[in-house]
Amino acid sequence: MGAQQVRERFAELYGADPEGVWAAPGRVNLIGEHTDYNDGFVMPFALPHQTTAAVSRRTDGVLRLHSADVGGGVVELGLDALAPQSDTGWTAYPAGVVWALREAGHAVTGADVHLSSTVPTGAGLSSSAALEVVVALALNDLYELGLQPWQLARLCQRAENSYVGAPTGIMDQTASACCEQGHALFLDTRDLSQRQIPFDLAAEGLRLLVVDTQVKHAHSGGEYGKRRAGCEKGAALLGVDALRDVPYAGLDAALARLGGDEEVVRLVRHVVTEDERVERTVSLLRSGDTRAIGPVLTEGHASLRDDFRISCPELDLVVDTALAHGALGARMTGGGFGGSAIVLAEATDVDTLTKAVEEAFAAAGHTAPRVFEAVPSPGARRVV
Ligand code: GLA
Repeated sequence: MGAQQVRERFAELYGADPEGVWAAPGRVNLIGEHTDYNDGFVMPFALPHQTTAAVSRRTDGVLRLHSADVGGGVVELGLDALAPQSDTGWTAYPAGVVWALREAGHAVTGADVHLSSTVPTGAGLSSSAALEVVVALALNDLYELGLQPWQLARLCQRAENSYVGAPTGIMDQTASACCEQGHALFLDTRDLSQRQIPFDLAAEGLRLLVVDTQVKHAHSGGEYGKRRAGCEKGAALLGVDALRDVPYAGLDAALARLGGDEEVVRLVRHVVTEDERVERTVSLLRSGDTRAIGPVLTEGHASLRDDFRISCPELDLVVDTALAHGALGARMTGGGFGGSAIVLAEATDVDTLTKAVEEAFAAAGHTAPRVFEAVPSPGARRVV
């Protein structure tokens, strides 16, 4: 749905034009998986898929929410009654943002919100972050809170961790809030310092495909939290604040100090090598050697599959099939246990590759995947 339609629908629902319309994108992560809650490095970029919100203020302590994407009418919530983990539906994300803003002392007195999204849900493409960030940005503008995009990202993460109850890191919200068109975002999740890295694949005759396996995942489930807890255990055993502090050059020595706890060894090895892969990717891109990042992506997949153990047969099938048909590199992206994979390929190989992946899925009896090209797109912004 375009901004104009979202605006018109708002007027039908609430009987007046909205004060404005905002949009926030989903993301894919190029490299740097499960490093964000270890204070490490990530490198996402924004997708053209986005959540659009038409919003007006209210003064009576009421939040009204409506989504074009889910059945049902307008949901009305009293701001004083918002309480962490009181809601398990989609409304928990926007309500959680309002809760987090008020918890941080911002005088938000209510809002009417109509939302419409083109970000696939449960596909590892950050539909939740897009939903949170678009609401946070709209309220920041309307209530003139003066918060910077990275501060909005922090508040949205608080909403997701405390209100929704999903123990996720800071990558997705920062990507949605801070990415820029034509760039990947090199983000240090310890202090949120950022560098925009030019990432124009088309100019080099390359494409990056997203393959949504249609295997749905959710991070409020236990596996994500278990990995996070295992990483925290590793950091505690090694006497560091976070696994980011384990130097790559000292990895073997660090693993030897883990006392044979094989589960923790695998988690630590993934995180420390993944941070190194992000840094290697950044230096390759900066030296103009874009094709050379392919093998780094593929190494990342092996590490997520074998050490972090969060892949699934469908994701592995995308990666194996793509590589067998000429891809430069491929890996799962996002939290894992389903969702999407990315494939870096020569533009001339894209049709053959796509067909090969679709045929492999059909032969294995899997639901047909959704394949699309990912072009680095703008971050969250006001559109009307
Ligand atoms: C999900 C979380 C992020 C990050 C990724 C894995 O997308 O929301 O914070 O941990 O998984 O890299």
